[in-house]
Amino acid sequence: MTKRIGILTGGGDAPGLNAVIRAVVLTATRQYGWEVVGIVQGFDGLYAGLPTIPLYEENMRDLLARGGTILGAANRGNPFALRLTNPDGTESIADVSLDALERIRDYGLDALIVAGGDGTMAIARRLVGLGARIVGVPKTIDNDLGDTDVTFGFDTAVNTATEALDKLQTTAESHHRVMVLEVMGRHAGWIALVAGVSGGADAILIPEIPFDLDVVCQKIRSLQASGRHYSLIVVAEGAAPLNGEAVYYLKGEGGREGRLGGMGHQVGSILADCMGAEVRVTVLGHVQRGGQPTPRDRWLATRFGSAAVHLVAQERWGYMVALQGTQMVTVPLEQAVHTKMVDPLGDMVQMARDLGIVFG
Ligand code: F6P
Repeated sequence: MTKRIGILTGGGDAPGLNAVIRAVVLTATRQYGWEVVGIVQGFDGLYAGLPTIPLYEENMRDLLARGGTILGAANRGNPFALRLTNPDGTESIADVSLDALERIRDYGLDALIVAGGDGTMAIARRLVGLGARIVGVPKTIDNDLGDTDVTFGFDTAVNTATEALDKLQTTAESHHRVMVLEVMGRHAGWIALVAGVSGGADAILIPEIPFDLDVVCQKIRSLQASGRHYSLIVVAEGAAPLNGEAVYYLKGEGGREGRLGGMGHQVGSILADCMGAEVRVTVLGHVQRGGQPTPRDRWLATRFGSAAVHLVAQERWGYMVALQGTQMVTVPLEQAVHTKMVDPLGDMVQMARDLGIVFG
């Protein structure tokens, strides 16, 4: 009997999601002769039973290079804690996970592939616990998902952030300015570290290493004394000072995490005071999530998507595909949902320090 599988893209989008969808569809149809349908708007669309999109080889054309996700994404919908608006306008939280399971049955799906970050994988794991037949594909620009060396979307975000540093450097040099670039990454400093080193930053502030701006001021002063009158400072959105806290521009509520952002400007104004130099701040924001995926992200997303279909064929419910070294492997979802942080004492940070980069 022909199998019918669904694919859903959960959480925020990331460049490479469309390449995953394409790889799933091509592998499932060509290798196994299965039908594939897309569930729109992540778990929100699943719970609401929104009409699915039939996916077949012909509508996969031109998808490799396209950013975003053709299925739409929602980083709110958690069927175990869904926010509902009551008739009187008040809000309540409801567990609608059993309804989500019923929708999977209503759609006639034999299995579901979910591409997402830690939040999506945590939901998938709980649904598998209730009997759902789900496998996972790791996605996030933050690269903070456990048990995979890298997630797709990360390379594109690093590319964007590095390009921004390259551009900031030329104008910083002309004006003898200190340029602060705030990048995304949530509670992990991967984007800041890799883009910072690749873009020649003088200081990189990451969540894993609480910072002291006096150290950054000293670094800038020593650069000035050596005749270099500009500097580049990269600040991860989740970075925090020693004895201080990260900055949120949107507070979390009702079990929903707040939105990080604003540390770049705080760092910028303190540096302006201590340096007496001109400081300018750039917040890169969602530019890092948009646009065409890099070839490396298209390649990784394609490997993940294809491997996920083989996992379905093997009925490995509750597992996620992952990259370890050069190998595609599978890991249990519960192992993947921990946050992968930069090791403050590891070789990558040490290498950056060896180059003279300070971490505050
Ligand atoms: O997890 C990806 C990410 O882009 C984070 O780097 C960032 O903190 C967050 O999502 C932003 O979320 P939103 O799109 O809801 O503003």
